[in-house]
Amino acid sequence: MRSSRGARRSASPDAAAAAPAAAPQPDGRRARLRRALRALGLVAAGVLLVVVLAAWAASIRPGTYSSMAMGVPDLGGAAAVVGGHGHGGAEPSTEGAPTTAGTPITELVADPARPADVRVELVARAERIVLPGGEAVDGFTLNGSTPGPEIRARQGELVEVALRNESVAAGTTLHWHGVDVPAAMDGVAGVTQDAVPPGGSSTYRFVAEDAGSYWYHAHQVSHAQVAGGLFGALVVEPAEAAEPPHALDVVALLHTYPGTSRTLDGVSGEVRHVAAAGSLVRVRIANTDSSPTVAWASAPFRLIAIDGTDLHEPGQVEGLRVAVTAGGRADLELRVPPGGARVQAPGVSLVVGPAGASPPELAAPAEALDPLDYGEPAPLGLDAADPDRDFAYDIGRMPGFLDGRPGIWWTINGRMGGDVPAYVVAEGDVVRMRIANGSGEVHPMHLHGHHAVVLSRDGVPASGSPWWVDSLDVGHGETYEIAFVADNPGVWMDHCHTLPHAVEGLQTHLVYEGVTTPYLLGRDSGNEPE
Ligand code: C2O
Ligand code: CU
Repeated sequence: MRSSRGARRSASPDAAAAAPAAAPQPDGRRARLRRALRALGLVAAGVLLVVVLAAWAASIRPGTYSSMAMGVPDLGGAAAVVGGHGHGGAEPSTEGAPTTAGTPITELVADPARPADVRVELVARAERIVLPGGEAVDGFTLNGSTPGPEIRARQGELVEVALRNESVAAGTTLHWHGVDVPAAMDGVAGVTQDAVPPGGSSTYRFVAEDAGSYWYHAHQVSHAQVAGGLFGALVVEPAEAAEPPHALDVVALLHTYPGTSRTLDGVSGEVRHVAAAGSLVRVRIANTDSSPTVAWASAPFRLIAIDGTDLHEPGQVEGLRVAVTAGGRADLELRVPPGGARVQAPGVSLVVGPAGASPPELAAPAEALDPLDYGEPAPLGLDAADPDRDFAYDIGRMPGFLDGRPGIWWTINGRMGGDVPAYVVAEGDVVRMRIANGSGEVHPMHLHGHHAVVLSRDGVPASGSPWWVDSLDVGHGETYEIAFVADNPGVWMDHCHTLPHAVEGLQTHLVYEGVTTPYLLGRDSGNEPE
């Protein structure tokens, strides 16, 4: 660079002679330009700083705030009907938004006069847990164990669970994942109750209206408390089953405690259940981890239920893997071969068969069962073609501030934190929601208090059994259309079940008009549902 310039100068004596005389002019101009640019740069940096500071300041939430005021009300195109103001655009509007007048969530309970059919007491403790394999973790227990006790009820029974927090310092709660409980019983700290402090207690009462496989877990600091052990299985058996159709009916809770290898029902490696060859068994797989997983079996099976809802005429399959998203359940039914069968998920397996059976361990099948066209169609019981509310839940990711913390956070419809949409419905509405994910990662989306049916994926209509979910795996680049009936008034979390993602902003609420909650969120509230 320098040598070539030197060469050019010496090649042009005129220029070389003129240069010293002309130098002050351009140098002065250059200096002025430099000064101007520097000033401009300073101004730009100043403006940027102001913009960033303003964004930072705007992101900081009050020390306490209501879940009803967390998002920007999105009326799903129903403003004209609901507000009576004759305007309903795509723009979020606050008209028809929930106010402080209405039914307090605390009144949305099961019949207080009805005695319980199933009563369970659960004591939550923070303690060191030693897994059967010998690995030790500082975690949490319920009645001294993790997973907590399996709760079984019959459909129609009233379940009452008295929770006492003995030593979980941050406080705790219990949420009934997949059970459409009355809103006050949903166990979400800061939304449906206050976190139960050490020494405190809380009683949950609900009628087990739908038979199926569910699970319960803490919903206070849930990303840490669930991983650390505050969870268990809840099975609702059908009311009419005089004799159980299955010789063996077991749960398989898949769980990874922090820093350990995966467990099945708290055991690392293999769990065994004795079942006679030829008998029919049901394995209720529940993924209590924060990321989606898969399961498969060494024998032909039927996938008979997803997220607690039976599938309609599910066919027998062999050599396929089944997706079980975070929070989701998949019930497998199989007839035990003479040498037993092995139901597997990465790292763990469950053996069913005659004593001493040693069915083969198989690698995960390459091909997946697709619930979109599995089983036979049946009426949905709702007309999703003409919904009362039509929402978009578009998941993205961008840099910004989440309650004052800089980072790259999840967004809903391009907004983060307190600016995400709050989905407003009225009781009885048929709701359609499009969940699209362009965020680069998979998100197991979980709506509390409702089951939604999958209408389509990436524009392909569902053509198999009605596929009802409470936890839906939405991969990067995928778009699902789901529908549900707003038949359970309350304020309901609608969030990603990769629980750290909820901490990172992937959460909002479904809010019923006319329902209010006295509970508060925010750093001074003591409630931290994520
Ligand atoms: Cu399984 Cu909001 O929870
Ligand atoms: Cu997520």
